[in-house]
Amino acid sequence: MNKSVNTQETIKSGVLDGAKTAKEIREELSLKVEKLLAQGKRKPGLAVILVGDNSASHIYVKNKVQACKKVGIESHLCQFDENVEAEKILSKINELNQSDSIDGILVQLPLPSHLSASTDMILHAVSPEKDVDGLHPYNMGLLLSGKPGLRPCTPSGIMVLLERYKIEIAGKKAVVIGRSNLVGKPIALMLMEKNATVTMCHSRSHNLDEIARQADILVVAAGKQELVKGSWVKAGAVVIDVGIHHLKLDNGESRILGDVNYQEAAQVASYITPVPGGVGPMTVTMLLSNTLLSYEKKVV
Ligand code: GUN
Repeated sequence: MNKSVNTQETIKSGVLDGAKTAKEIREELSLKVEKLLAQGKRKPGLAVILVGDNSASHIYVKNKVQACKKVGIESHLCQFDENVEAEKILSKINELNQSDSIDGILVQLPLPSHLSASTDMILHAVSPEKDVDGLHPYNMGLLLSGKPGLRPCTPSGIMVLLERYKIEIAGKKAVVIGRSNLVGKPIALMLMEKNATVTMCHSRSHNLDEIARQADILVVAAGKQELVKGSWVKAGAVVIDVGIHHLKLDNGESRILGDVNYQEAAQVASYITPVPGGVGPMTVTMLLSNTLLSYEKKVV
């Protein structure tokens, strides 16, 4: 039988339903905010800095703003045009750092190419207490040394998803494909913190498929559409797909694919995250959770 046939009958894995889990957590966060407001506290506030015309970034930011509204977090969208100078963004961050009504500041990435060299400077300008993306070196340092703090949203969301589905981590072999600061490096640290044996792979790794096949937990954040085939997945493995690729089909329809060939991998995995509806909604939820964490430190 052709294993890539797209029918529900051929899918064998359990789905790690990020959309459902995110909804549950957002309801918990919403209740928390409601209680704080009933005590006369101010609303938590999140500032989102969006630079330029990247259409994917605009969609992500819109989702973040909507999610804030649903749980009672006040969002402040700070938009800059494509050609803005770094100084203007830095000056805005300075203002937000000092604002008493702002608990979290997020700079949506990627920044336009003329700001590539300034990305670190911009991220490092965010006050560590308001760094809800967990990308400031201070917060990265806390994560590296196993201390609590603000941690990057996507890997945090993956860990919560694994926890809620009671996936065993201790002693398991985890393979992470992708070494970004946003996902690959932090998820490797978080899995190690939970006593997994972690292997990191990246674009220069040899025999990627062989390494992937050893994983009990396979996290794919490579940014390459359907890089991971079904034959790369060990029977019974847990597969986390962080990729998101928007595809325009010839007939005008569009599709969203991940870094993993879902139809193939779902034949062999014990659990797998769908795309969309897996890691994405968890990322946004952890942003809300981090904003509340930072708020509670100041206000509660
Ligand atoms: N672009 C894609 N994912 C993210 C994220 O988690 N945070 C930020 N700031 N930008 C992103």
